[in-house]
Amino acid sequence: MKGIILAGGQATRLRPLTLVTNKHLLPVYDKPMIYYPLLTLANAGIKDIMVISGKGHAGHFLELLRSGDEFGVRLSYGVQEEAGGIAQALALCKDFSDEEKIAVILGDNIFEKNVAKKAVNDFEKQEKGAKIFIKEVPDPERFGVAEINRDKIMGIEEKPNKPKGSMAVVGLYMYDNQVWNVIENLKPSGRGELEITDVNNFYIDQGIMTYEVLDGLWTDAGTFDSLYRANKIVAERNNQ
Ligand code: DAU
Repeated sequence: MKGIILAGGQATRLRPLTLVTNKHLLPVYDKPMIYYPLLTLANAGIKDIMVISGKGHAGHFLELLRSGDEFGVRLSYGVQEEAGGIAQALALCKDFSDEEKIAVILGDNIFEKNVAKKAVNDFEKQEKGAKIFIKEVPDPERFGVAEINRDKIMGIEEKPNKPKGSMAVVGLYMYDNQVWNVIENLKPSGRGELEITDVNNFYIDQGIMTYEVLDGLWTDAGTFDSLYRANKIVAERNNQ
């Protein structure tokens, strides 16, 4: 399985922190943010990883992470010219995937525990389809929200005004190689982006999506409050 880290986007919600640098290079306690998703994939045994960044700071990612040797992985890099959505950033990795299954992680998602290892093993055994992770949150309207009925996943709504439940879809996704076709057929959403939620809903509608409730703390780090929370989670984990 190949790994993909998506670190494009404009991070307008973190201005002025992101006026002259990229969100994923900001510190989260004692490391740059992008280290965490990278280590999550590396610790899951994924050796081949592609990093997508926006056009402004691509060179900084290369300088920081270089070949990936330090992390025991091999890194490739790609540039998303415009922030056209998570699924648009993912589409840039088609050739890199080489028809293998992929594990995709959002560059601003921080996981407390090594969640990916078992999930990668399970997904290697899953014949086809996709896998996502959900987590109960107090503020579901900030996320993609999964509707679960008797343990069955019915669908996902992106940032709904009236969420059908409190289970957020976290930024770690696994797909088979149908994903490239699915993205090619996507239409931009109301906010003009190719949405990862639309990709996930395709797999749900086909009945080939599995999900797990995530173990351990998790946060994104794309707002001041969540960035602060990410720092706290990491500091407390390190000092345990
Ligand atoms: O954190 C989990 C949530 O991430 C999910 O629950 C949502 O369903 C999903 O849409 C996403 O929501 P956000 O609004 O938080 O996504 P954001 O625009 O902050 O982008 C998250 C990361 O994705 C960002 O750190 C880098 C990458 N990204 C995003 C965009 C829009 C790209 O690489 N390119 C892009 O164009």
